[in-house]
Amino acid sequence: MNLKKMVGYKAAEFVKEGMTVGLGTGSTAFYMVEAIGKRVNEEGLKITGVTTSSSTTKQAEELNIPLKNIDEVEKIDVTIDGADEISSEYQGIKGGGAAHLFEKTVANLSDKNIWIVDESKLVETLGAFPLPVEVVHFGSGQLFKRFEKAGYKPAWRMTDTGEKHVTDSGNLIIDLHMGLIEEPKTLASWLDSLTGVVEHGLFLDCVDTVIVGTSEGILVEKVNRD
Ligand code: 5RP
Repeated sequence: MNLKKMVGYKAAEFVKEGMTVGLGTGSTAFYMVEAIGKRVNEEGLKITGVTTSSSTTKQAEELNIPLKNIDEVEKIDVTIDGADEISSEYQGIKGGGAAHLFEKTVANLSDKNIWIVDESKLVETLGAFPLPVEVVHFGSGQLFKRFEKAGYKPAWRMTDTGEKHVTDSGNLIIDLHMGLIEEPKTLASWLDSLTGVVEHGLFLDCVDTVIVGTSEGILVEKVNRD
């Protein structure tokens, strides 16, 4: 059973006629975009998509999903995206696909955020997955040293051909191997304060619904932040 496909197709059911929909990035979001594409082409569903990466734009265009640039929409009704880790408090790490800058920008403009994951992404405490930090080129080596001094075991995100990965915005990614992130809000504030950091992969108090694929079936978990 392909759990990623299961949750991707389930999430597409949350999309209603006339909505503006944020389309996430990654191997799970791929199936959600595929399923929405089917609904657009087979049911005549009318939606507007706002994509979160060049790869999702390419897929959505191939499926003839009508798209708008983020600056052309007033707001986004719902964004559906994958995640790399989700804690028991529904905080997340994203950016395994290096798209977290666009993903967070789209998520912040969305009335509702739905994350789609297989059960392997659920953890008690964040941090086993390396935390992506997008940085500008200038002074990125100094930031790297600063992360080393802080004990965060930084590593440059590399391509398969051995070069530093360059994001859709032309920046670099440093992955922090933290092990455990006991205080994600404190860490997020510190990273936000560093000159040269464009965006990090901590998505805090962001998600409204998590759709989890398990070997037993699909769980839809609504997040209550009261
Ligand atoms: C890309 C992301 C992805 O949503 C995240 O990496 C999950 O990807 P996948 O579904 O392929 O495991 O944040 O930047």
